[in-house]
Amino acid sequence: MQPCLVFLSLLERLALITNNTFGVFMEEMIDSKNIFTNGWSVYQKILDKNYMFHEEIYSEVSTFIERHFKDKAISVLELGCGDASQTPRAFNRAHVDTYFGCDLSCEALKSAHANLASMTSNIDLACEDMLATLEKTRRKFDVIFTSYAVHHLNNIQKRMFFSFAKDLLVDGGSIILIDVTRADDEKQDQYLDHYLRNVKSYWQVLNDQEFKLIDDHVRSSDFPETLSGYEELAHEAGFKNFEILAQHTWHYGYSIF
Ligand SMILES: C[S@@+](CC[C@H](N)C(=O)[O-])C[C@H]1O[C@@H](n2cnc3c(N)ncnc32)[C@H](O)[C@@H]1O
Repeated sequence: MQPCLVFLSLLERLALITNNTFGVFMEEMIDSKNIFTNGWSVYQKILDKNYMFHEEIYSEVSTFIERHFKDKAISVLELGCGDASQTPRAFNRAHVDTYFGCDLSCEALKSAHANLASMTSNIDLACEDMLATLEKTRRKFDVIFTSYAVHHLNNIQKRMFFSFAKDLLVDGGSIILIDVTRADDEKQDQYLDHYLRNVKSYWQVLNDQEFKLIDDHVRSSDFPETLSGYEELAHEAGFKNFEILAQHTWHYGYSIF
């Protein structure tokens, strides 16, 4: 085993032991993700106003998928799919054969099947942590797609995400990662202040109570990586290509293969 893999394996074990396998850890995660169980209607308002640039980023992703896979029938794994209301936009020019999605919010998943119906009829959904899904899945995929979910993982977990994902991709397969990203010289605290100042100024559809919910959630649960950080994690896991497909303020779309 290569030294970095030994290191990763030790880190993984540490992450699992300190989190008492995924059990206790997941309860904490679910608590801090309450916004996506009890507060999905607030998130829906954000989607409706396109504050996180889903429209523009998914459009670039759709172009990439068409260019990369051409007419191939593709299998898709989506991590942190939520209600999957945006997902079909990314695959609107693709031939999706099978789709497997997971999310911690069982509530959000209830709407996912209907939202994905235009994409394929072969749909599997699992209400579970994305690392658990990645770890136990035995199938391989053409696309591992994740949008605004990986920033909820800590650094060790992000490393596990890239490493597991590498093993689950077929030859020629690609990760599509959409997420908030810190500037290379922006510390976590600075990012939180900058991002939330921007939210306060521009996300005007939110009332004071909703802004407080977002503020609390972002401060307690968001750990975006820097651009170089993502690139480094991807290369460390063995990916050769790291391409920025779209960038709108802190909101990025990447293809990684
Ligand atoms: C900001 S929402 C994004 C939803 C959708 N992908 C989108 O782009 O609109 C983040 C989603 O990630 C899910 N999530 C967060 N951490 C997760 C984890 N460790 N495993 C699985 N899902 C997770 C949340 O439950 C939530 O549905």
